[in-house]
Amino acid sequence: MELIPAPYAVEGPAGPEVPLGDGTTLWAGPGAQRTERWLRATLGAALGLPLHPGPRDARDGVRLLLDDTLAPEAYRLSAVAGQGVEIRGGGPAGVFWGAQTLRQLLGPDAFRRAPVRRGAALGVPHQVIEDAPRFRWRGLLLDVARHFMPKEGVLRYLDLMAAHKLNVLHLHLTDDQGWRIEIERYPKLTEIASWRTRTKFGHRASPLWDDRPHGGFYTQDDIREIVAYAAERHVSVVPEIDVPGHSQAAIAAYPELGNTDVVDTTALSVWDTWGISANVLAPTDTTLRFYEGVFEEVLELFPADAAEFSAFVHVGGDECRKEQWTESVTAKTRITDLGLAGEDELQSWFIGHFDAWLSARGRRLIGWDEILEGGLAPGAAVSSWRGYAGGIAAARAGHDVVMCPEQYVYLDHRQAPGQDEPVPIGFVRTLEDVYRFEPVPDGLTEAEARHVLGTQANVWTEALEDAARVDYQTFPRLAAFAEVAWSPLPAPAERDYADFERRMTAHYRRLDALGVAYRPPTGPRPWQRRPGVLGRPLDGPPPNR
Ligand code: ACM
Repeated sequence: MELIPAPYAVEGPAGPEVPLGDGTTLWAGPGAQRTERWLRATLGAALGLPLHPGPRDARDGVRLLLDDTLAPEAYRLSAVAGQGVEIRGGGPAGVFWGAQTLRQLLGPDAFRRAPVRRGAALGVPHQVIEDAPRFRWRGLLLDVARHFMPKEGVLRYLDLMAAHKLNVLHLHLTDDQGWRIEIERYPKLTEIASWRTRTKFGHRASPLWDDRPHGGFYTQDDIREIVAYAAERHVSVVPEIDVPGHSQAAIAAYPELGNTDVVDTTALSVWDTWGISANVLAPTDTTLRFYEGVFEEVLELFPADAAEFSAFVHVGGDECRKEQWTESVTAKTRITDLGLAGEDELQSWFIGHFDAWLSARGRRLIGWDEILEGGLAPGAAVSSWRGYAGGIAAARAGHDVVMCPEQYVYLDHRQAPGQDEPVPIGFVRTLEDVYRFEPVPDGLTEAEARHVLGTQANVWTEALEDAARVDYQTFPRLAAFAEVAWSPLPAPAERDYADFERRMTAHYRRLDALGVAYRPPTGPRPWQRRPGVLGRPLDGPPPNR
């Protein structure tokens, strides 16, 4: 079958199908209950299968169980007529990924929300699939700060991630242009910082504005719902509160957080255009105490035990402009008092503070690779975005790394050359380029390579004003990315892209059934174009690893 991501090994199909119908029963052993619920709610609804509870040994029933001879996320799916469909997982997540494979085996209708062909014969081809992921961290970043994605959209993306066996949602919750999470003790973060009066349409050099106010935020119960919905799907949600840069929205709400001896921060508003704001947090005790308060609520909302990587909290740390710190007497005094060499070390002191603070609470800090500058806090992990170099340095120093180099897996970047791509930003990175992305750079020893927890595709939304634009940039490339993250692919040049494209033919039908507004292989549909909206195309090949 045309599975995406490709499984480790398949035997078959050969022999008669396992028929599924009204009488098909479902049995789940201890530890498989989440998948049992998901199968009934999702596959059952799509295909009109009641999947009533039944005995373990039902002929042609579906059986879910744990098998501790398998790795935690590994599964074995066997479909044998007369014996039914059995999914064994090394742990609960393995059973769930096996159920995702079962869904793909049942054809595109299995991706709808209600049956479209009642009474049609259904069956699972006779086969045995052995499967396990290459990487533990298989992530997607959604930037819900630049353009807000309402809760329903996030829940939908969690379903789309699960369908591709992705397991980490990195939620970029705060930036210069918006603050998206309710913090009860600081109500102005949502009253003021969660919306802006207008928005630059296109690249910052574009003359166009969208004069509609833009905003939105997740209430604390929305966040709890997102985290629980993700956990049902074995997905960890890693929240990002970006400090000390990318903080203009927070400063607009609470001016005392900014460098008040350099700028009149009471005059700031939530930023309405794109780029990197010079308005960064002041390195003061006031700021530290404020953000400790934010993180106290964040830790409660994102419990460490929700899913595999839920102990991680992302603190950003990227692109912190230093001009205000250079001018600020307060910042200079802090540098002197702490005996630091300069502004880079001040940034590293700031991140180090939260590394210690999070560690003391049993949590782990992760930040963008700039947190390496001026010395990396001992327990920190790194999201390597400016190419591979930060990730290599971090892995060599014994830190865990998530590889997400912008030159390969920034999905806001345009996916074809020419004039038709909507608001063309960044490098041309085609479906094939993403398919040939290799997360583990050359030159790491085996021990160093073990620090590469995995990889992540990042969807920044300056140029993605709504869910359809997010879909267009994310798909189909997220399918190629999922295969890179999950499947045991050979070196980039040896990857069988023709076979991937062949399997994509079936996968597009699944995406159609899911209602994903992907970029068709022939280019954008007329309504997917944005004629006249300025982008910022860049040239350049993907770098060597
Ligand atoms: C980033 O793209 N600034 C992490």
